[in-house]
Amino acid sequence: MAGMTDANNNVPAILLVCLGNICRSPMAEGALRAAATREGLSLTIDSAGTAGYHIGEAPDPRAIATAARHGVDISGLKGRRLAAEDFARFTHIFALDTANLAGIDAARPRNATAKISLLMDVVEGREGQPVADPYHGSEEDFEQVWQQVSLAADALVARLAVDA
Ligand code: 4NP
Repeated sequence: MAGMTDANNNVPAILLVCLGNICRSPMAEGALRAAATREGLSLTIDSAGTAGYHIGEAPDPRAIATAARHGVDISGLKGRRLAAEDFARFTHIFALDTANLAGIDAARPRNATAKISLLMDVVEGREGQPVADPYHGSEEDFEQVWQQVSLAADALVARLAVDA
């Protein structure tokens, strides 16, 4: 089927990718899971990092607290690194910023089928915008990340619901 679905099973598979997979992409994963549940949309959703510093770790406590304030539990997620198989397993890989978009491109194998783009490109009027790394930032920076990834999650689910 055309659009944002996988030709094999019609279920879109979305991978969200930042640097460490402990701050931005776990928050984006939580926001997208919540948005899909609200819409009754069946989606495969995961997140990963382009770097391997935090493999096996839970999200940053500030990311967990921010998501929890918005009613979403991401405490059970575990950090992992982007893998070659991800480029065929997922229909869409979304980078949280342009440095990670470049990192994803550099890791892309020749048989990649996933469409790769910047996450905020799904939000009208916010195309090309990065979701800034909050790791060395404040609680307010984490809240800003949540606001951005929630907008993207809602926009993505709305698009996928039209395609389904
Ligand atoms: P993330 O944030 O990419 O949003 O998960 C970061 C987490 C860890 C590091 C950098 C960014 N780090 O350098 O360890």
